Amino acid sequence: MDMSGLPPLAVAFFHLCLLLSSSSSLRVLVAPDAVEESTGRNGSRTAYHFQPAKNWMNDPNGPMYHNGLYHFFYQYNPDGVTWGNGNLSWGHSVSVDLVNWFALDAALQPSRSFDANGCWSGSATILPDGSPVMLYTGIDARGDQVQNVAFPKNASDPLLVEWVKPEYNPVIPVPADIKRDDFRDPSTAWLGADGLWRIAVAARVHDVGGATLIYRSKDFLRWERNADPLYLAHAAGMVECPDLFPVSEPGVEVGLPASGAGARHVLKMSVMDTVQDYYVVGSYDDTADTFVPEDDDDCRSWRRLDYGHVYASKSFFDPSKNRRVLWGWANESDSVADDLVRGWSGVQTVPRKIWLDEDGKQLRQWPVEEIETLRSKRVNLLIPEVNAGGVNEIIGIVGEQADVEVVFEIPALEHADVLEPNWLLDPQSLCGEKGASVPGSVGPFGLLVMASGDMQEHTAVFFRVFRQNDKYKVLMCTDLSRSSTRDGVYKPPYGAFVDMDIEAHSGIISLRTLVDHSVVESFGGGGRTCITARVYPDHVVNGNSHLYVFNNGTGAVKVSSLDAWEMATATVNVLPDGLIAASSVSRAQAY
Ligand code: FRU
Repeated sequence: MDMSGLPPLAVAFFHLCLLLSSSSSLRVLVAPDAVEESTGRNGSRTAYHFQPAKNWMNDPNGPMYHNGLYHFFYQYNPDGVTWGNGNLSWGHSVSVDLVNWFALDAALQPSRSFDANGCWSGSATILPDGSPVMLYTGIDARGDQVQNVAFPKNASDPLLVEWVKPEYNPVIPVPADIKRDDFRDPSTAWLGADGLWRIAVAARVHDVGGATLIYRSKDFLRWERNADPLYLAHAAGMVECPDLFPVSEPGVEVGLPASGAGARHVLKMSVMDTVQDYYVVGSYDDTADTFVPEDDDDCRSWRRLDYGHVYASKSFFDPSKNRRVLWGWANESDSVADDLVRGWSGVQTVPRKIWLDEDGKQLRQWPVEEIETLRSKRVNLLIPEVNAGGVNEIIGIVGEQADVEVVFEIPALEHADVLEPNWLLDPQSLCGEKGASVPGSVGPFGLLVMASGDMQEHTAVFFRVFRQNDKYKVLMCTDLSRSSTRDGVYKPPYGAFVDMDIEAHSGIISLRTLVDHSVVESFGGGGRTCITARVYPDHVVNGNSHLYVFNNGTGAVKVSSLDAWEMATATVNVLPDGLIAASSVSRAQAY
């Protein structure tokens, strides 16, 4: 077939389809009922966010780019829609573009004494010869958390379907000063100048607190703990899923923790008590293997990767595009009974490119550019401004599957309401007190998404500007209080201040919101503040969701640009038509 005229992605996609249809090592791709499941039952199934065909999913695990394919693994319960203590496995999917995903057989399942009770979170490392190795937490036969390695059975299988767990596991048993269930989630390994690999492992050390411990090894088999932890989170209790990566220069990405004492890095930790992911920029000493944050010592006051409903995030370096990409788990927030009806639970955020902002302090995040390949029908709304109390509908696209980018301009910042200093302490409560229907001088203005025709249901994503002395503060909120008429659904306000000088930006601030049935994922101020929410409006069962731009402030707000796209449905863990056999059983028999 002559493919010279096709774009590179189409060619790569074609090759992946060939691989999937011919791989003799491929066993089961989808469960028989997966296709029906994945079309959704109650309208909340997402169309372009990553989720397995069915069952429970939590943390992203071991994302990597290997031989032209992206591999994504995840905490998966193959037997049900709840977390499934005891049988957590590593689900596995592959992609050429981070958008369309093909489900493979689970990569790791409890099978040996060192992971008999679960294969928990971990990370991928690409060795200098290009082959990958996985480090993951096993819950062993006694219930101890131990660290294990796994290698591809056949490193030349492009799909890396089968993984081998060597007999010598565990490579790191639980240390004496740590409780058996407080030791987990090994990071990607990085190579020090001394030729030794390092990993960070989350733990709670007796009488000390949450910690990220450093282990060193020359061969991935024998690991030695560094006396000093990478970082001690005294007050935070148990932390999970640590991630350490370099951010040497704003906007410039490099792979693994870099050499050079004092090189700037980001440390990210997921804190169990608050169920939030926090990060900070700091200096990593690559000889002592310690990290000093450039901010408050209590990690719970660090910045958050997402001020909504996201946990256990993990990033990886994508050498094919020289970028760092992050995923985070956004779990359901209605009820387990609802999960049972749906047959699935948990989605991932869209993969986000992350980089250090020019201010040198905060990360910026943006959906990877490949997401834009799903943009289909476009609506360009030309409205010079939204007046006080104004609501303009964005007509012409399917509202529950959309990507909206809007740029606002505040003509008269000086009219902003005065900020009370204590409001800075709890932006989430402030978003609750000053919801979308409470008028201010500058704002609330933003988007109403997932709105029913009668407006009984809507989710408001908006900004409000305050004045503090001669500076301005921009509050960003996602208000779920009216997101669903159903009871038993978590409908909090989410909120954070956007760390930018809006005056220096000529009063301009942007908002991008991805709407995907039960996900409202928003990027404020060019990705300085992200808020992901899960929503369960009743009206979505019949589709017909509306989108609006609104301004409930007393002063007019200009709309410099507003583009909205209907998003096509990605192929996420469902085989493309033409390749799918009637059931996985007949497919498996065919090989
Ligand atoms: C985070 C976490 C990890 C653990 C995994 C188990 O959500 O608790 O610490 O490895 O989930 O599924």
